[in-house]
Amino acid sequence: MIKDLHDYLDYLSSRRRLAHVKDRVSAELEITAFTDREDKERRYDGRALLFSNVDGYDMPVATNLFGSMSTLKELFDGFSISDTISSIMHPKHAANTASMLKGAKAMLDSKPKVVSFSRSGYEKLGSLDELPILKVWPKDAGKFITLPVVVTESPEDGSLNAGVYRMQVFDDTTTGMHWQAQKGGSLHAYEAMKRGKKLDVSVAIGTDPFNMLSAATPLPQGINEFAFAGMARRARTLLAKNGSYPPVPANSEIIINGYVEPGEKRTEGPFGDHTGYYSIPEEANVFHIKEIYAKKDAVYAASVVGFPWSEDGAIGLFMMDYLKPMVSLVNDSIIDIYLPPEGLFTDVCFIKVKKRFPGEAKKAMFSVLGLGQLSFVKMIVAFDDDIDIKDLSRVLWAMASRVEPERDIQVIKGTPTDTLDHTANLPAFGSKVMIDATKKSKGEGYGREWPETISMSNDLIDAVGRKWRSLG
Ligand SMILES: Cc1cc2nc3c(=O)[nH]c(=O)nc-3n(C[C@H](O)[C@H](O)[C@H](O)COP(=O)(O)O)c2cc1C
Repeated sequence: MIKDLHDYLDYLSSRRRLAHVKDRVSAELEITAFTDREDKERRYDGRALLFSNVDGYDMPVATNLFGSMSTLKELFDGFSISDTISSIMHPKHAANTASMLKGAKAMLDSKPKVVSFSRSGYEKLGSLDELPILKVWPKDAGKFITLPVVVTESPEDGSLNAGVYRMQVFDDTTTGMHWQAQKGGSLHAYEAMKRGKKLDVSVAIGTDPFNMLSAATPLPQGINEFAFAGMARRARTLLAKNGSYPPVPANSEIIINGYVEPGEKRTEGPFGDHTGYYSIPEEANVFHIKEIYAKKDAVYAASVVGFPWSEDGAIGLFMMDYLKPMVSLVNDSIIDIYLPPEGLFTDVCFIKVKKRFPGEAKKAMFSVLGLGQLSFVKMIVAFDDDIDIKDLSRVLWAMASRVEPERDIQVIKGTPTDTLDHTANLPAFGSKVMIDATKKSKGEGYGREWPETISMSNDLIDAVGRKWRSLG
């Protein structure tokens, strides 16, 4: 079991997936330049980087902890969320003892264990200045904490939420809190505002990989990220609670406690984001810091994003592949779903559908557009089950040969959009386009005979294959 960030760095190092940068580097832009080069050269198979000599700081910095798809696959190997749900709920599997035991173990692992925060092993820091926080891109508004696990408790029902939301350093004791309106932390701030209360917030920087990845994963609202981390790790998450602050992973390198006054906003950004653009400055909540603790040998964890390819792309691609069985669980006509990295994950979405009745492709598209963070998708295209939606040449061929624009393209106005989508006239509010690139049937009003796709018999292909070999 990977115990904490130090253990994870050793794990990566033993697999030659960690590069140790011993040269003196600056936290301002230079760590970005190193990390971005690694990401662009190795495209989703980048090494994590450990910078042990950061100008002006004693604390090392680790970046690109999740820049490798192979590492992500390895970490989650053998844990399938949809199998786990099936083993708990599906009558066919529940009758099978092995499957039941697996489900029962996952349920036990899913229960976080909360202990009191102990200061031993930690030292209290005077201010944020003591942390090697990065200035990521030249025109960023300042320094940003980029891989924080931000934990809040619902004022309504006490449930916990953990999300990764960037935090712009405003001064020694305040930062921005860039949780988008639809995200868990923001919903808790909304609940606090309705009650006229401030919201206590805890932030963990650097913990074991499962806690960090779970916080970054678009899990359905209401699923506790530390429960998911426990199932994936196959061991319960240990949380430490300090006074009234929400608990954080007990293996955190750095812990920041403070609060957000929900009505208080301040301009946040610009910040060089994964869209490849600087985000437009917008109003964001302000986080007031009361206490900062750091392990005596703490490593500061950061993420660098930018024009694709970067670390969040590897996380996004892996998580989409990983979570797609859950989409099919909700809508069984969706066989596959692909959010191409070049489509910035939230903006372009392809789905492959098993079309059994008129209009089923549209039904499937509507369901995606209403599903959790998939509701950020701006352009969605549905394909038949003969199209490999990861193959752009087949995707374009189907769009060219199965779409009649007037009939098959719908624009839906007045919808939520990703806050990062600067094309919308208003922040987080715009429109969507739905394209039905499936073959049309008589039941859908197509009055002609849909032509057959050209193909050759397998027997003939095999026969030619045998003769082909003689061509040398
Ligand atoms: C490196 C990185 C940075 C992120 N920054 C933000 C951010 O600034 N704001 C935001 O709302 N989501 C951000 N996300 C995405 C959220 O972490 C993700 O949507 C997560 O599901 C949020 O958790 P929640 O659904 O519990 O709110 C970031 C993800 C990664 C990997």
